[in-house]
Amino acid sequence: MKLQESAVAQITAICERYKNEKTPLMMILSDIQNEYGYIPLEVQELVSEKTGISVAEIYGVVTFYSFFSLTPKGKYIIGCCLGTACYVKGAQKVIDVFSEELGIKPGETTDDGMFTLDALRCIGACGIAPAVSVNGKVYPKMTGAQVREVIAQQYLNEGKEMPK
Ligand code: FES
Repeated sequence: MKLQESAVAQITAICERYKNEKTPLMMILSDIQNEYGYIPLEVQELVSEKTGISVAEIYGVVTFYSFFSLTPKGKYIIGCCLGTACYVKGAQKVIDVFSEELGIKPGETTDDGMFTLDALRCIGACGIAPAVSVNGKVYPKMTGAQVREVIAQQYLNEGKEMPK
């Protein structure tokens, strides 16, 4: 994929913004992630060209931190906690039902770009396990039976009906 001129200009501007920083990489990548929602290889190559930081190093950072993504993420990120407290209260079942309902595995995004399903470690809500977060909003004590309702709610936010 070739980057559009406007994207090249914007990424160049982001790199420029931090050129006086000692360790600009995290800031540059955060801005790009926020702006575009993901950081594909072509973008990493451009950042490398602009900053002199090797593509290997950039790739290492992008793949190490779960905040960064190599592929586009859905509009709604469903994070199912699989930490110990949630796990013992049935979190695996919850993520399995999300997976089944959305037709994607953890780490994947639905074809319509609506949802990304993520498996998370403890999100600090053990008291209300199993916990699920959708774009940061936490749903307590989730059960498999509530999964469709949570999905439907996000469609409602969009003014759409949930597909059958
Ligand atoms: S283990 Fe899930 S919130 Fe802590």
